[in-house]
Amino acid sequence: MAHSLPHSFIQEDRTITVAVQRPAQAVAKEDRSALEIFGGHSLQGQVTISGAKNSALVIMAGTLLCADDCRITNVPKLADINNMAEILKALGVSLKHDGNTLEINASDIGGSEAPYELVSRLRASFFAIGPLLSRLGEVKIPLPGGCAIGARPVELHVKGLQAMGASVQIEHGIVKAAVIGGGRLKGAKIYLDCPSVGATETLMMAATLADGETIIENAAQEPEVEDLANFCCALGAKIEGAGTNTIVISGVEKLHGGEWDIIPDRIEAGTFLVAGAITRSELTLNSVVPDHLTAVIAKLHSVGCKVITESDSILRIIPAETYKATDIKTMPFPGFPTDMQAQFMALLTLAEGNSVITEMMFENRLQHVAELQRMGANIKSKGNMAIVGGMPFLSGAPVMATDLRASAALVLAGLAAQGKTTVQQLRHLDRGYEQLDEKLRRLGAKIERIEMSAS
Ligand code: UD1
Repeated sequence: MAHSLPHSFIQEDRTITVAVQRPAQAVAKEDRSALEIFGGHSLQGQVTISGAKNSALVIMAGTLLCADDCRITNVPKLADINNMAEILKALGVSLKHDGNTLEINASDIGGSEAPYELVSRLRASFFAIGPLLSRLGEVKIPLPGGCAIGARPVELHVKGLQAMGASVQIEHGIVKAAVIGGGRLKGAKIYLDCPSVGATETLMMAATLADGETIIENAAQEPEVEDLANFCCALGAKIEGAGTNTIVISGVEKLHGGEWDIIPDRIEAGTFLVAGAITRSELTLNSVVPDHLTAVIAKLHSVGCKVITESDSILRIIPAETYKATDIKTMPFPGFPTDMQAQFMALLTLAEGNSVITEMMFENRLQHVAELQRMGANIKSKGNMAIVGGMPFLSGAPVMATDLRASAALVLAGLAAQGKTTVQQLRHLDRGYEQLDEKLRRLGAKIERIEMSAS
């Protein structure tokens, strides 16, 4: 499979840069929730992996493409999903949430604008620009918010929509897009400077209802892109090549309703594999797609674990007594995922030797280093690189979660550390892990959710 990568995503020169800043209110809100973890206990048993957050979010945006009923199952119960549901409702969508199922009908949208307070909480909400523009011919949407992992530009989304015949203006933080001359977007050949997941998804959705054929070159190959394409095809879209770096979309006049079951979350699965490794525990993971975890499994093998594929949906991790250092460089899929970098760093703090971790995707994604150091980890970091010198043990400490995957890394470190770790600021963790503490408790972890007292 052809796979082209720029030297580093985070140092590219850009002509249009629409960078997304961290919204002030996201940090201002008081969050006293915390997890208290007593480390050093081994885990055992089976855990069922939830549906993929990143798939569910974009497929929710994808329901805007049609005016009929859509039923989405295996949707994880997460703060990010609730935010996306609020945004869709603000746009006029009728939405029923029952457990892990969503019933969505977007027959009555138009004229409404998603409010900034909602959009600023969730970067993925910006991806709705594609389906809204394609279906309605014009759209206004605030620039998004999201994690504090760095500036998150959307210029590739904008350039792609312009290539399809849209005018796009940004005024006072609002993106205003309209099809030039009215009517439908036009199919186009689009080359992405880097294989952005969000840009691929935005443009693929926009192209489903465009006039003619769209070709997206250097497209993102992530499983969530493929899941979105399969969902759109279930609604009548014509998309070929999703999951490779060239996606061809033949526009159709309209889509119909349908049902879709979200794929398992490969990042949650990877996090539980590391939980098994770091606590030296044998764990079985149900409801996984092993092929989505190839890079993560390869790295677990490098450190010395065994990961056995029991079936096409079951993985078992068998830990080793001691672990070896290994180097990690984050890459677009099928490379090692940036969303697993922090969790692996936690594991490598306990491996023998020095590991070099290079974060290629986001410029501010090593914030967990300082927190792991509070637990006694031996890490030196500069720019986008960290050198992790393995230690025999970590010590429990109060630590602060700074973003979603950093939170997971601190929980993992706490499970392995000697004594008590308190992971504060759980709003980050709750954005993206369905009942992580509950699932870990069922596996035998000593972990409790508490409210910190006001200081
Ligand atoms: C998605 C995932 C996120 C994951 C990331 C990379 C969702 C909701 N989120 O985020 O969990 O960490 O993929 O796998 O699916 N870029 C540009 N210009 C653009 C867009 C992106 O330069 O217009 C760069 C980014 O700065 C970054 C790289 O492309 O360096 C990858 O970002 P992208 O794939 O777009 O990430 P998201 O879709 O935001």
